[in-house]
Amino acid sequence: MKELNLQTKLQVFENLNELPTDAKKLMEESFKARDNAYAPYSNFFVGAAIQLENGEIITGSNQENAAYPSGLCAERTAIFYAGSKFPKQKILSMAISVKSLQKEITEPTPPCGSCRQAIAEYEYKQKSPIAIYFMGESGKIYKSNSLVNILPLAFDSSFL
Ligand code: THU
Repeated sequence: MKELNLQTKLQVFENLNELPTDAKKLMEESFKARDNAYAPYSNFFVGAAIQLENGEIITGSNQENAAYPSGLCAERTAIFYAGSKFPKQKILSMAISVKSLQKEITEPTPPCGSCRQAIAEYEYKQKSPIAIYFMGESGKIYKSNSLVNILPLAFDSSFL
């Protein structure tokens, strides 16, 4: 029996001011998007902002539903819109932030597994990495240079 050791590397920024200017701007766009979340059931607000190669910024927020599974996360709301409106534009990066009415979240909050899978598909489609910046409401920001770094053993079309 052998063991596989799956490792990943993230970059850690202590606060917003440590981010490069364009990443800071993208994160601030995610704050604005987060204010548009429709989250009456969880009271957990998520914003996502996507930087496209043509300079366009696409944002999204979580949209909940009384039939819970019918709602959608912020990241997928944003990336599906980017994919449908600008199918030929490469996605360079995504910034994600959250806010809860229950408590102040100070830990970087990663995208859920379904969103990671959805974002990974666009990396495969465009054949280039998407940088992911994520944070809580305040505190540190984590950056992954590529989505697949935070989705080890990702499922892709090569298995089909
Ligand atoms: N949510 C997101 O928008 N993104 C994630 O990656 C995790 C969870 C949303 C879904 C739901 O509206 C609320 O946060 C609580 O799970």
